[in-house]
Amino acid sequence: MKVKRGIILAGGTATRLKPITSIISKHLLPIYNKPMIYYPLSTLMLGGIREYLIITNPSHLKLYQDLLGYGDNLGINIRYKVQKKPEGLPQAFIIGEKFINNEPVCLNLGDHIFFGDVNRLLKKNINDFKKTTIFTYRYKKPNEYGVINLNKKNKPISILEKPIKPKSNLIVCGLYIYDKNVVELSKNLKFSKRGELEISDLNNLYLKNNTLNVEIIDKKNHWIDAGSPEKIFEASKLIESIEKRKKAYIGFPEIAALKKRYITINNFTKLIRNYKGNYYGRILNAFLSKNFIN
Ligand code: G1P
Repeated sequence: MKVKRGIILAGGTATRLKPITSIISKHLLPIYNKPMIYYPLSTLMLGGIREYLIITNPSHLKLYQDLLGYGDNLGINIRYKVQKKPEGLPQAFIIGEKFINNEPVCLNLGDHIFFGDVNRLLKKNINDFKKTTIFTYRYKKPNEYGVINLNKKNKPISILEKPIKPKSNLIVCGLYIYDKNVVELSKNLKFSKRGELEISDLNNLYLKNNTLNVEIIDKKNHWIDAGSPEKIFEASKLIESIEKRKKAYIGFPEIAALKKRYITINNFTKLIRNYKGNYYGRILNAFLSKNFIN
């Protein structure tokens, strides 16, 4: 079964990034040369998703609508919903119940950036969805995330939320694909001590029922949680260096749309005109000349 829909969660108050986030949404801050949300959007677009729900807090809604509209320029469809209070990631599925429409759905946190071969891994799971899938990564500070507890045979047995003494370094990243039961399961979760619905509780339900697929993103790939000033800087430097050194294009929704043929070369050329005389337009133009026009 193919997964058709994706949610990008761009809510929250981003206290770690104040003062700037007192007036702007974290997921619109620049990561190198583009707004942060372009990265998760491109990741899901390259994965094959064309229907989106962006969830944001009420005061930032208009900014996203102004930036991305309904997505028709990109050959996709974008809807919006607000999250009044940030009460945990599974709330996205409760808010998105109608959008999800009793079918599987992908979730990418608005500040989790992935690139490299991970696109292939995601595409495989989107095109041939069998069961709920989480994407994991070996990380040096696992205690900041949901951590997979493995048995002696390396089989996942539980997921612990920010454990003080992590039992492995395999953490759960902000990219997930859930089956259609996710809405009901999320509605039945209890609030944790920190006052949130926990995605680790949700994932543990799937794990206990033997309906969880755990994918590992290997070290040849990149995953960055851009939720702090240091990580924003690190992500920006890394993406700048890869874009320049390898002449790669990371996180451009326009390029994702053209690569996936969601739009025609003609549509793409029109998009470039929005950036006349500007570096972003020059990058899009360079991509077009290199790949589509000889
Ligand atoms: C949340 C989850 C955690 C997960 C992380 C990335 O962390 O609680 O289990 O590893 O997202 O998916 P938080 O946003 O609460 O720091």
